[in-house]
Amino acid sequence: MMTLDELKNDIATCHKCPLWEGRTNVVFGVGNPDARVLIIGEAPGKNEDLQGEPFVGAAGQYLNELLAFAGLERKDVFIANVLKCRPPNNRDPLPEEIETCSPYLREQTRIINPEFIVTLGNFSTKFILKTEVGITRLHGTLQQTGRFKVFPIFHPAAAIYDRSKREVMEQDFRTLRRLLESQ
Ligand code: URA
Repeated sequence: MMTLDELKNDIATCHKCPLWEGRTNVVFGVGNPDARVLIIGEAPGKNEDLQGEPFVGAAGQYLNELLAFAGLERKDVFIANVLKCRPPNNRDPLPEEIETCSPYLREQTRIINPEFIVTLGNFSTKFILKTEVGITRLHGTLQQTGRFKVFPIFHPAAAIYDRSKREVMEQDFRTLRRLLESQ
């Protein structure tokens, strides 16, 4: 099997979809290669594209706060996105972009082999669970796909615009802490 560094090198020059034209950096993902928890967001935004690291903007600041409710720090987990390159003006990922890019996420998941996959928001949740059920119904519930436990949570960016979501998100991260402690 490939190492994460080998996969990262492969992806660094990817031209498989048109998003490469607008990118500054491929955002491969970052964190502990032996993590129990793999966190999957949607796609890089402006700051992530510039810095080459996921969740470094406002949503990332809030994600760091949320991780503490689960007893986790960034260095404990691995953080990646469904898409590795920034869509123009942060538009939603297109189905063909997801299809083209997803083998990279699949390979990352195989290499890291986490116990838990935490999906942030609708795109990531629907992609991982192959479901049409939305995040509003699935958040905070333990799901399973193959050998992975999947725990969907609202996307932290949603709570930046809608502060009423924060209590729910914090509760979901507390639930994640209990799951990590009991399994
Ligand atoms: N939102 C995401 O889904 N991923 C990032 O890396 C940053 C913001």
